[in-house]
Order: sequence, then C-alpha cells, then structure tokens
Amino acid sequence: MDGGSRKPRTSGFVRWLSSTNDVTRVFLAASARPDMINLAGGLPAPQTYPAEELARIARQAVLDHPTETLGYTAIEGLPALRDAIAARFSTPALSLTRENVLVTTSGMQALDLIGKVLVDPGDRIAVQCPTYLGAIDAWRPRAPRYHAMRLETEAFDPAPAFTGSKFAYTVPNFSNPTGRLVPLDIRQRLVTTARHSGTWLVEDDPYGGLLFDGTPLPGLLDLDADGQGGPYDGPVVRMGTVSKEIAPGLRVGWMIAAPEMIQALTLAKQGSDLCTSGLTQHVALGALQTGLIERIQPTLRALYRPRRDALIAALEESLAPWFTWEIPVGGMFVWAVARDSAINTDTLLHHALDAGVCVSPSSVFDVDGQFRRAVRLNFTLNAPDRLREGVLRLARACAALRAA
Ligand SMILES: Cc1ncc(COP(=O)(O)O)c(C=O)c1O
Repeated sequence: MDGGSRKPRTSGFVRWLSSTNDVTRVFLAASARPDMINLAGGLPAPQTYPAEELARIARQAVLDHPTETLGYTAIEGLPALRDAIAARFSTPALSLTRENVLVTTSGMQALDLIGKVLVDPGDRIAVQCPTYLGAIDAWRPRAPRYHAMRLETEAFDPAPAFTGSKFAYTVPNFSNPTGRLVPLDIRQRLVTTARHSGTWLVEDDPYGGLLFDGTPLPGLLDLDADGQGGPYDGPVVRMGTVSKEIAPGLRVGWMIAAPEMIQALTLAKQGSDLCTSGLTQHVALGALQTGLIERIQPTLRALYRPRRDALIAALEESLAPWFTWEIPVGGMFVWAVARDSAINTDTLLHHALDAGVCVSPSSVFDVDGQFRRAVRLNFTLNAPDRLREGVLRLARACAALRAA
C-alpha cells in the first residue's frame, strides 16, 4: 500500500478560474485597501441604508411570523411578497399575479437561474455589449457562446442576434457598465423581435428607480403588455432587486415572467438554495407595504445627483485630455472611453492602484475580454471631495502610463 496522501481535487471549472489572470480579483482585493479610493464598485452609499426602519420591520416580523421568518419558506417565495411584487409592477395593460413571480436570493441568483434553465453547453446568448460582469460570471460554468448586441447603434436589428440564441440579455435602464438608457425605439424592436422569434428576452433592471433627470422610459415588460388581462404570458423575463435602493445585504430579488418560465426557474432554485431567507423576504415585504422604497427615492436622488455632477466636474477638470464620456441621467456609473485607441485600461488599472484609486477596466464587461479602452467609474459610494481626489489620482495614473 502506498502510504502517501493524495490531495482532494476541485472541479475543472474552479481550476480553470484560479489559473486565469483575473483582473476582477485584482480590483476586488485592491478596493478593500483602506487607503484606496474605490470608484470600481456598484455600491450604494452606506448612509442611505434605512437601518432603523429595517430593524423595526425585522423585529416585528420575527415576533408576528416566527415560522415564516425563522423556518423554511416555499421555494417560490412568500405568497404575500409575490403578491406585493405582482401588484407593484401591474399596470392597467399588464396583469400580473403571483404565478408570474419568483422571489430570488438577489439579482445574482436570478442570473444564475436563467443560465441553469435556458443554457446547455455551447448554446448562444445574445447580450447587450458591454455587459454586467456578474452575468458573464454567472453563466461561465455553462460555457455559452455569445452574440454581442450593440444597442446604441441606431440601425440595430435584433433579428440576427435573436435567431439562434436561447435568450437575449439587456440592462435597459442606466446599464451596468455604461450608465446609458436603451432608447425607446430599440426597446420596441427588442420586444417585437422577441415575440416573433420565440426568444426569451431578459430585462435586468436594478437601476430603474435611480432616475435623476427626465421621465422614465417604459420597460420591456410594459411594452409587451397586451391589455388582455390574465397572468402575463409573453417572452419577457424581468429581474429586480432591493440592492440598489434599500440594501444589498438583504439579498432579495425577484423574477417576473410567464408562469411556465416561473415553474422552470422554481425547479432550478430548489437545487440552488431551497428558499430565500424568510426573514429578509419579510423585511422586503415590509419595505414594499410601508412605502419605504417610494420614501427613500428622493433621498437617494438628492445624494446621488450632486455626486454625479461632482464626478463629471472632476473629469472635465483633470481627465478631458485622456477620456470622453456621456453624462448619465441616472444609475451609478460613468463610462469613460480613452481618446487614444492605444490605451490599455487593464494596464492603466495597475498604475491607478499604485496611485491609490481603483476603477473597473472595460475588459471585465466584454464577453470576449478584448475591449480595453474604457473604464467604469462609480459616483454613488464616495462624497464629492473623494470623487475629485480619485479622479486626480486617475489622472496621475494616466501620466504614469504614458511615461512607462
Ligand atoms: C445589472 C445588474 N444585475 C444584477 C445585479 C445583482 O444585484 P444583486 O445581486 O445585489 O441583487 C447587479 C449588481 O450590481 C447589476 O448591476
């Protein structure tokens, strides 16, 4: 007998992940350094978390509903929360019932579940590009192929993207990473093509409530409403979360879709976490029932709009020779594209970290990892003076990159 010991092994997927030179890990580790100005994350300002109110709701929920808050709940979520979500997003033309709603353990789980339900290895997904890096991460184990959709192109035709794809993925409001809105006519084209091609159309909407200027555009689900009554039965799957307006620590999100899709997602969720925490579901329910989200929105706008303006002013002051950008009308991000196509923002990240500022390089938002000319800058986490200092540090990093 061989007396030596053998090491237990991880899966091929984990071995592959840990062998990659992952820029995400670099910036996540760096953004935790106390001296670092973090412009990289998609984080709300912690002072906006309504701690007192959530604590009150949580305490009352545990006392009033000990079995639901402390025991297992139905896989689909608390019926009362499903009803409240259905009511929140129903309109005179869009009829939603609890059969249209699955409560998820945050938006990230929704992304994971849609991958599990729709994607077999080698299947194709049509994605708005650049796209949310969490979505790329969630689907990576399923080894999909991608078709990049450039939704900002006026002549964009969804048909070639949808044909042959299992689903199409978009973040129509203040997209992560670009902060842009998908224009109304393109939204309409997406919905019409989804209907005709029989392709699921995923509308991921964590940022829709963070509108600073102007009026909101109708969502894809709203555009697909047929006014016929009865539970919605179309191809749009909307994902939402309490993370950006209430608190990401609750880890409560939802999916709204045709009942047939909700049933499939529920099967997948069973093998994922059995159920979302009943306690945080009750907290989310309380937040909906007491109008907390509506009450907090003006506070968020009053804090975030000046922060956006401060970031834009700082960029104009220090980074205009290097980058161009658009001013977002909501959300959390400014997407800055280098004027010089030779700039590599993966390399810039290392100079930025040396200068004490962390930014998200564009390669992490590209399904091919090839687009290296832009950075995503967050304006919600830091106060205006920190934003200004962060941009100054980034300008120093640009100078160091040129000198290198
Ligand atoms: C586009 C998008 N979808 C989903 C999420 C996931 O949010 P959470 O898991 O906190 O609900 C995020 C978070 O940044 C996001 O930007």
